[in-house]
Order: sequence, then C-alpha cells, then structure tokens
Amino acid sequence: MVEFNLPRNSRVQEGKTHPAPAGAKNTRTFKIYRWDPDQGGNPRLDTYYVDMDKCGPMVLDALIKIKDEVDPTLTFRRSCREGICGSCSMNIDSYNTLACLKPIADIKGDVAIYPLPHLQVVKDLVPDLNHIYAQYTSIEPWLKADTPAPPSGERLQSPEDREQLDGLWECILCFCCQTSCPSYWWNSDRYLGPAILLQAARWVLDSRDEATGERLDQLDDPFRLFRCHTIMNCTDTCPKGLNPGEAIAKLKIKMFERTG
Ligand code: SF4
Ligand code: SF4
Ligand code: FES
Repeated sequence: MVEFNLPRNSRVQEGKTHPAPAGAKNTRTFKIYRWDPDQGGNPRLDTYYVDMDKCGPMVLDALIKIKDEVDPTLTFRRSCREGICGSCSMNIDSYNTLACLKPIADIKGDVAIYPLPHLQVVKDLVPDLNHIYAQYTSIEPWLKADTPAPPSGERLQSPEDREQLDGLWECILCFCCQTSCPSYWWNSDRYLGPAILLQAARWVLDSRDEATGERLDQLDDPFRLFRCHTIMNCTDTCPKGLNPGEAIAKLKIKMFERTG
C-alpha cells in the first residue's frame, strides 16, 4: 500500500476538540481535516473522541455518528455503505480508500482523515471532481457501433470475449487510484490518469464496440496515455482490488500492435 504525505504543514492548524460523551469508556480519537470556503481562513484538523461501544466498525460509521450527534457541519460524501457507489473515497491513515470498507480496528493510534490528495477541496472531505469527470466524458464511455443491433436488441459476446472485461467493469469510479498517481499529480491537465484509462480500456477491449481505432487515436498523445510510467501506486491503492496499471499496459499493447 502506498502512503502519502498530505498537507500536514503549518497551514493545517489544530482546530476544535470535541470531547467524548460522559461515561464513555472505550473511545477512539479521530483527527479530521476541515475547511470551509464560506468561512475563509486556513484548513484545520478537528479532534473528535468517539465512543466505540456505540459506534459501528467502519470509518464511515464514525463519520456518520460524528455528523449526526456531534457536529452537523462536517461534510463528506457517501451513499451505499457497501463499497459500490464510490462516493466515500478519502485518505484515511495516509491511504486512499473507501471509508465504508475501512475497519477502524485496522488503524493504530489516532484515525487521521483527509480528502483525496492533490485535488481542490470543495469543503472538508469533499474534493472537486469536475475535472476528472470531464476527462471521463472525453473518452466517450459508452458502446459505439454502426452495425444495427439484432432484432432481439442484445449484442451478444462469446464467454471468452466477455472475460476480457473482467477486472474493468467492476470499477466504481472512486478515484483512489487517480489521486495516488504521481504522474497524475503533476500532469492532471493533460494526463488522463489510471481511473480514466482503465475505463478507456474497458471500451477498447469490448468485442461489441466498433470505435477501437477512433478511441486509440484519441489516446495517442505523449500525455493522455503515455504519461503513465508504470509506478503502480494505482494498483496498490484500489479498494476493489483492480489493476489499473495492467489495464494501461493493455492499452499500450493495442497502440503498439496497430503501429507495428
Ligand atoms: S502505473 Fe501509471 S497510472 Fe498507475 S500510478 Fe503508475 S504512472 Fe500512475
Ligand atoms: S480502478 Fe479502483 S481505485 Fe481506481 S477508480 Fe476504479 S475502483 Fe477506484
Ligand atoms: S458509501 Fe458507497 S462506496 Fe462507500
């Protein structure tokens, strides 16, 4: 797993401390990044003591408990609580992961929680994903085919062709990989990054798609695809156990196959 140096510099000041409820005997300490653009000022790290005898086992359970019972201003994304929607990605204990899948018991000492690194912050633990979604749109993530669908409406695949999509369709667009990639940190304006390239591979490798050449043309650029230097932070980080580094390698092979 890849550990990140987050903005634990002088601009992130110690913030408010919220004590444990009276009578709590089994507390854990959560240090949570807070920043509110409407308030101005520097980011701060607020401290919350949570009674673990009255809290679920996952980091997201603690965040929900804090928001419900202690501090309704704490802002974060979440939806499914099952590792399916990708909303609750954040940096926990120095790793990018999903708060709903991260057991508190796996973390030693204080639980430090920051937004995903190297993105603009909208508020607290909510990063601005507009640029990443624009990059996602740029790869046209839908089936493109001129051949009309058969009367049944279903475009069938052989089991072998369908297998090519395993390890790709499961991506939940949480962007843990995207924001763990050093190439993306430094070139996010032009490099598509591992999450978007894994999605590009998902369509390039789909036997039903008829726009392979056009898709590869769109990626054939010194930055969009080839800024990946196979550092593999992305694969180490993916909370769904996917391998964006391998997907990128497959795209590069496709690119080389057509140029010879
Ligand atoms: S393998 Fe490529 S995409 Fe993954 S972290 Fe390394 S440079 Fe980034
Ligand atoms: S490949 Fe994994 S880490 Fe990257 S966006 Fe998809 S699910 Fe998240
Ligand atoms: S809340 Fe949906 S992935 Fe965590």
